[in-house]
Amino acid sequence: MRRSLITTLILLSLVSGCSDLTISRYFEVGALATVAPIATDIGVKVFSDGGNAYDVTVAVGFALAVVHPQAGNLGGGGFALIRDGDSKKISALDFRETAPQLATQDMYLDDSSEVIDNLSTEGALAAGVPGSVAGLFAIWQAGALLPWSNLVTRSAELADSGFIIDEYLAASIAEYADDLKIFQETAALFAPGGNLLQAGDRLILPDLARTLHKIAAEGTDGFYGGEVAAAIEQTMLSHGGLIRTTDLSQYQPIWREPVHFQFDSLDIYSMSPPSSGGLIVGQILKLLEPYDFTSISSDSPEYMHLFCEASRLAFADRSKHLGDPDFYNVPDALLDTNYLNQRRLLISAEHAGNSETTEPGHPLQLESDQTTHFSVCDGQGNMISITTTLNTGFGSKLVVGGAGFLLNNEMDDFAIKPGYPNTYGLIGAEANKIEPGKRMLSSMSPTIVMRNGQPLLILGSPGGSKIITTVANAIINYTRFNLPLEKVASQPRFHHQWLPDKIYLEEGSYGVATMQRLIRYGHDVTERERYSDLQMISVEQAGLMLPVSDPRNGGKASGY
Ligand code: DON
Repeated sequence: MRRSLITTLILLSLVSGCSDLTISRYFEVGALATVAPIATDIGVKVFSDGGNAYDVTVAVGFALAVVHPQAGNLGGGGFALIRDGDSKKISALDFRETAPQLATQDMYLDDSSEVIDNLSTEGALAAGVPGSVAGLFAIWQAGALLPWSNLVTRSAELADSGFIIDEYLAASIAEYADDLKIFQETAALFAPGGNLLQAGDRLILPDLARTLHKIAAEGTDGFYGGEVAAAIEQTMLSHGGLIRTTDLSQYQPIWREPVHFQFDSLDIYSMSPPSSGGLIVGQILKLLEPYDFTSISSDSPEYMHLFCEASRLAFADRSKHLGDPDFYNVPDALLDTNYLNQRRLLISAEHAGNSETTEPGHPLQLESDQTTHFSVCDGQGNMISITTTLNTGFGSKLVVGGAGFLLNNEMDDFAIKPGYPNTYGLIGAEANKIEPGKRMLSSMSPTIVMRNGQPLLILGSPGGSKIITTVANAIINYTRFNLPLEKVASQPRFHHQWLPDKIYLEEGSYGVATMQRLIRYGHDVTERERYSDLQMISVEQAGLMLPVSDPRNGGKASGY
């Protein structure tokens, strides 16, 4: 995972230089945690102007498209889990990108059926039809109090006046320096005159501001029709891409039933397909449920081994059984107790399994460097857990000429060839092959945890495949190991995804003794850069909200 996904510290006012000291604060009217302080401040202002969690989500979603261009977006897509305070209902919103109508199963292969380098990750052909603007509009329609134009205009004005680039954005720009110079439209934004933007520079985005003003005035028509849609098609035509204005005018977000399962006595709601997130988080937790962790700690090799064995099995299932449910029959039984009891028999407490010989299971139909997550909650019980992405950092690296925003490279999340690993090393096949209009499989896992019918925790993270293990582990750390929420956020991470068959440990976070013990279990252990970015809110019994932002990436948690 690239460094920019991952970096630094948070919470409110901090003692400078003390990267794990976070000062938590409880809020009564509303709370939020995001990766970008300017976006969080806009959210707090919306609360203070009388907005609720829906309003804040819309305003912050657009603000992230301005101040966090690595992942915040107009040209990408995502998922949201939403609990409505009035009806108490929890729903899932799918605003994932779709394959354009002109897409074909073999579009990234050459004549010998070999994958053509970079075609699914860079440039116009990598982009799916964007869903974010339609998604935010659906969230606004579902329960916002303030006018749409009021919420969107805040970001249009921000893009107009510009903002000062902080060290985190500067580091991302530096990291992707070469990529951001591939397309002249993109270089003009991030490397004007050939000079990369630096921390302390002001980034002014007049084209993006104009696009945002259009969206503010016209709603979704301001993006999926008229000038902006024409600009997207024009960019596609001049760069060999497939998205046409008809793809844009036909795009619709979809309300879906969330994945719901019980873990211990908790009710957990998370994202349903076309994200694999909810089901795979669910499998990991359910596979681990019978184990007693009372005498071990959350960073012990014993726990890490068991967690990775559960992940191995769950990710094996992901590779075969998960895809867009509107195109592929995802088995019902992936969270079935009998099925998981059988799968659990494959776990040894003593030895690592072997991914080469670990096959996806056979659940029956029952008889019968980037994404960003933010969490928002208000005193009326509205809770929104939302993850949005361009896929990798700065997406396809291609800015829509004249419209000022980056397009995603989400097409790489399809299985572009059976068994061929995507950017995150994930493989897939039939269930996730490219088809026109289909949504590519995701790992995004926006999640809401309830206890006895009451809100307990809102959480989610970026990190590609590591989203799933980050979220599952955070739930266990908070509810089983009873770690304070700040500790949950800063806890060193580890990850296993079946293939490649190795445990990834967050660089510099685990001692030699832990690594040796894991190796003695039979695991292959590799260190890698810091990854993921938990943005969480816990709700205390008194209705007080505690937002916490991951101390890796310079985010901010706050409230009103
Ligand atoms: O949908 C997915 O699973 C990926 N496109 C998410 C990418 C991501 O999280 C990148 N951030 N680290």
